[in-house]
Amino acid sequence: MLQISWPLLAAAGLATASRPAKRLDNGLALTPPMGWNSYSIMQSNAKALKELGLADLGYYYVTTDCGWTLPHRAKDGTLTWNETIFPDGLPALGDYIHSLDLGFGVYSDAGVQMCMTGLPNQTGSLYHEQTDADTFASWNADLLKYDNCYSSKARGYPNVDYEPLHSPRPRYKTMLEALQDTGRKVLYQICDWGVDFPSAWAPQLGNTWRITNDIVPEWRTIWRQINQLPPSASYAGPGHWPDLDMLEVGNDIFTEPEEQTHFTLWALAKSPLTIGCALKDTFNAVSKSSLAILSNKDVIAINQDSLGKAVNLMRRYTDAGVDVWAGPLSGDRTVVALVNWNNQSISGQLHLSDAGVQSAGHVKDIWNDKTSSNVVTTYTGDVAAHGTLLLVLADTTPAGTYRTDQCGHSNGDRVTYSNVYGMTDSGEYTLTINFGKSNEDEKTVHVSTSASSEPQKIRTSTNAVSARISLKAGSANSITLKTSANVDSINVSHPEGKFYASTAFSVSGTASHHKCTPGLCAPVGSKIANLTAHGSASVTVPTDKRAGSSRYIELTYINNDVSLDSAWTNGTNTRNITVAVNGNAPHRLEVPLSGRSSELFSPMKGWGDPATLGMLVGGFGGAGGRDEIVVSNAGGGDGVQPYGADFVGLRVV
Ligand SMILES: *[C@@H]1O[C@H](CO)[C@@H](O)[C@H](O)[C@H]1NC(C)=O
Ligand SMILES: *[C@@H]1O[C@H](CO)[C@@H](O)[C@H](O)[C@H]1NC(C)=O
Ligand SMILES: *[C@@H]1O[C@H](CO)[C@@H](O)[C@H](O)[C@H]1NC(C)=O
Ligand SMILES: *[C@@H]1O[C@H](CO)[C@@H](O)[C@H](O)[C@H]1NC(C)=O
Ligand SMILES: *[C@@H]1O[C@H](CO)[C@@H](O)[C@H](O)[C@H]1NC(C)=O
Ligand SMILES: *[C@@H]1O[C@H](CO)[C@@H](O)[C@H](O)[C@H]1NC(C)=O
Ligand SMILES: *[C@@H]1O[C@H](CO)[C@@H](O)[C@H](O)[C@H]1NC(C)=O
Repeated sequence: MLQISWPLLAAAGLATASRPAKRLDNGLALTPPMGWNSYSIMQSNAKALKELGLADLGYYYVTTDCGWTLPHRAKDGTLTWNETIFPDGLPALGDYIHSLDLGFGVYSDAGVQMCMTGLPNQTGSLYHEQTDADTFASWNADLLKYDNCYSSKARGYPNVDYEPLHSPRPRYKTMLEALQDTGRKVLYQICDWGVDFPSAWAPQLGNTWRITNDIVPEWRTIWRQINQLPPSASYAGPGHWPDLDMLEVGNDIFTEPEEQTHFTLWALAKSPLTIGCALKDTFNAVSKSSLAILSNKDVIAINQDSLGKAVNLMRRYTDAGVDVWAGPLSGDRTVVALVNWNNQSISGQLHLSDAGVQSAGHVKDIWNDKTSSNVVTTYTGDVAAHGTLLLVLADTTPAGTYRTDQCGHSNGDRVTYSNVYGMTDSGEYTLTINFGKSNEDEKTVHVSTSASSEPQKIRTSTNAVSARISLKAGSANSITLKTSANVDSINVSHPEGKFYASTAFSVSGTASHHKCTPGLCAPVGSKIANLTAHGSASVTVPTDKRAGSSRYIELTYINNDVSLDSAWTNGTNTRNITVAVNGNAPHRLEVPLSGRSSELFSPMKGWGDPATLGMLVGGFGGAGGRDEIVVSNAGGGDGVQPYGADFVGLRVV
């Protein structure tokens, strides 16, 4: 058994953002690859994959990771194995794995040596690509994981170089071409740890590509890695998958809820699911609870869903320590995960509208193994410390649409819709009342809402009619219609709000305005940088007296503080940004990465690529008809990152 200092395994950028280049089409990885990776004890664990039923669930590739070869090539120039570890040789191991009907994965490196430290050197594939591809093909390998250590020629081939002078891309392309030349179909896993934003180029070259530095056996790794997903999520699709690195489930470092959160996020991100624990051998056996997590059919089905779309971060309630990640599944279904980052249990309240849904005919609560029907607006459930509420929603209506049969309560000539969701306090919502298809009789409707005392009276002979209504932020609103006509459904849409560009803000302290490279920092073309505890941006806007005090603010921010070197310690891939209104306590949003272009070689190194996220901010309705909005990094400093995210603009809804 190898005792290894955590090796620099890894994973996998050049931005040609607008024109999508042709993606690799080798017919492989139509759903994210599943399997098992390790450094030794291959046979017994491959066998365990079968015996424990994991192979039947889709875990297929068994990959010999770093540590299998020698410091030098054989006399004929080929890579060969260490006979102490593999007495029968790699080809025989491949035959054994194939005899179990599993796929045989091999590992090499796009550098002069493989990553392993603390062992005799392991020679790499750089400058020997065709020889090594031919060797792997002759062993009937089905997968190649291709790492990035000792690859930086310009700096004398150090173990790692997170700021290489040249893109890793050409080295990965050379190996792809060598693999293609063999004629064997080999699933190709690019592992450059996310250097040079590979999502922009790796789908042309590989079936999977690492978007993060290595996973480390600490809970904080999950937060760091998932905060690197948002800019890469849209690159997932059949044949091409962003890789969050192998799973720590089963390594006895996480609690059960933590393992559930980890497995959920990896599965929903459409990352390859690569088991990284010893399943069953002379020394170890996976725990029942970890095996149950790795074997959860519903979660695996989400990962393997034919639509192949990754989830994204829809809403981050930073003050509450809760995230909502969601995305579409085949069959018009939606998957949504509420992640509790607090190290204590909470009663989680999931607003379905954060997943773009208003009501769901069927809900499967996966980790609680529970189903419900006709869920409207919110789903509530206890979520353990660091745990996740994971739901699959089917038979849904889009956010804002309330079907009377699912959501309405009738009483004589009144129908009431309760739990109507408002994202903001506003008197500017549009209510649309949909009568039966061809109902063109003269009708009268009295509309009242919980937020306004005066009912509105509407007369119409059309089959749909609109009214302006007030709602409060949250799900405690109700709408009552008094009418003799049948109402099929109502739709509630929030106002568009008003966008304030960063150019309208004045800066103080460390903060300053910056013009961006043309085309970047959309939609403004400039940003405010260096927001700190001592540097802010402020604007004064007219108060909307009807609105009330809590308004939804959609921030357009930029963060490309990519955690590579800092991945081993305190890197998070996040930045804070705070918004305070009329001198009230600031609200904080800790934003994930937004950069979608190379952190090394693109014109603004990814610091010109914005994203948006929203939060509810109280304190509006200022005296004198004016509201002052201050954007900053309040609380930054003192051991945490002093610089906030850069600021492009904000929309007040
Ligand atoms: C082969 O592997 C063994 C066991 O890890 C190690 O002790 C030995 O140094 C390796 N041999 C060579 C030549 O790398
Ligand atoms: C192993 O690699 C290191 C770093 O490249 C080098 O200094 C050392 O001489 C190598 N050792 C052997 C035995 O090749
Ligand atoms: C979470 O809380 C538990 C129990 O108090 C503690 O043992 C554990 O170290 C905490 N985890 C983290 C990551 O802080
Ligand atoms: C309103 O809701 C109905 C029922 O879900 C839907 O068919 C319709 O497209 C919606 N209309 C608008 C304007 O959103
Ligand atoms: C922010 O401030 C730092 C430190 O003063 C400076 O090096 C950097 O250039 C500034 N960034 C921008 C975008 O102005
Ligand atoms: C993170 O760790 C590095 C290296 O240990 C240290 O220099 C830095 O101050 C730390 N940063 C934060 C934000 O804690
Ligand atoms: C964001 O702010 C919180 C609270 O002060 C802090 O714990 C966290 O480390 C900050 N994150 C960054 C990246 O500075």
